[in-house]
Amino acid sequence: MDGDSKGGQPLDINLLNEVFEAVNRTTESLKSSYDILQKKLEQTQELLDSVLDNTNSAIIACDGKKGVFLKNRRAKELIGEMGEEKIFRILAEMTSPGVHDYGDAESKRYFRLSVSALQSDESDGFVYVMDDITRLKRLENERLRNEKLQLMGEMAANIAHEVRNPLGSIELYASLLSRDLEKDAEKKRLAVSIIKGVRTINAVISNTLLFAKEIKVNPSKYVLSDIVDEVVLYLQHIIREKKVRFVNRLDENHTILCDADMYKQVVMNLIGNSVDAVKEGGLIEATSSMNGETTSLSITDNGSGIDKDMLSRLFMPFQTTKAKGTGLGLSIAYKIIKAHGGDISAESNGKDYTRFTITVPGTKRPEQEALL
Ligand SMILES: Nc1ncnc2c1ncn2[C@@H]1O[C@H](COP(=O)(O)OP(=O)(O)OP(=O)(O)O)[C@@H](O)[C@H]1O
Ligand SMILES: [Mg+2]
Repeated sequence: MDGDSKGGQPLDINLLNEVFEAVNRTTESLKSSYDILQKKLEQTQELLDSVLDNTNSAIIACDGKKGVFLKNRRAKELIGEMGEEKIFRILAEMTSPGVHDYGDAESKRYFRLSVSALQSDESDGFVYVMDDITRLKRLENERLRNEKLQLMGEMAANIAHEVRNPLGSIELYASLLSRDLEKDAEKKRLAVSIIKGVRTINAVISNTLLFAKEIKVNPSKYVLSDIVDEVVLYLQHIIREKKVRFVNRLDENHTILCDADMYKQVVMNLIGNSVDAVKEGGLIEATSSMNGETTSLSITDNGSGIDKDMLSRLFMPFQTTKAKGTGLGLSIAYKIIKAHGGDISAESNGKDYTRFTITVPGTKRPEQEALL
């Protein structure tokens, strides 16, 4: 008997080889399919990561026990910015979707949050999607504030219009009265103080109107020192009354491009403020510099100075330390200088040195000049 066949079919070695080869081929093909699958999986993972990382929303996935198992780039940035503990406190507090705010008034941040349940074979949990909409919210608040201001402006304009007419009559009658009272000095003084009072109210109204309305400038070229001379002449009486020394160090070659009436109003308020701030015999100095296309005017005084707190609020409306001030002078100056495409700044040591600098275009750019 044939030892290899042991009572069954004889083993066909060729067939066996073929079977082995077929198994080998299948294994190879399985392996390469597995490799392809693995590569596809990696690519999908990469795609998913890139989608997650390129969105502006912070995405954080937690399992049932609040353990984080996924956070995208924006979430990592937010955690880096605010600290992990804070972020998870925020998430714990924001239990419902919607817009939530966090932090106190000055550093308040706004987040739009959506939460969805995560159910998979491996874990149950939540996916949080957070959008930091602080900037958007600020813009919206600013828009609301501007709308309110505009409404206030319109109201102020209406009131001013109604008040101005009777004021005109009061001033007229008071001047007639003061003329009639030529021989009675005491009564004449009273009539004159009515006229002064009316003029103050008129100035307040003009300031309020100017503050409320949009400023449009129509600039022309002027010699800076001419403009300042005119203002100083106009303020001569208060300068003399307080025996203030006004030193003019302006360069006569420095020019500015401005709406003269408006620019004068700014300079008038700056010098007026300095006169108010200095003691009798105080010093006010005007200097200028021309730098490329811009010209700066600085008004420096050795008056009371401005403390840090006031310095930070200086250009906001209704900030005044004066009994008779409207606190609108510098906020109007700010609007006027900005309308010229310029800048206004203040520095002070808080005790005996204050300097305001206004910068506006000094000359037309060559191509503008050529157009004229
Ligand atoms: N040169 C200065 N030295 C010290 N304090 C100043 C000076 N300039 C401005 N200030 C401070 O800034 C405040 C605001 O000035 P601003 O010109 O806006 O209003 P005002 O002078 O008070 O009132 P208004 O100009 O409407 O009459 C002043 O009340 C004053 O406290
Ligand atoms: Mg003022």
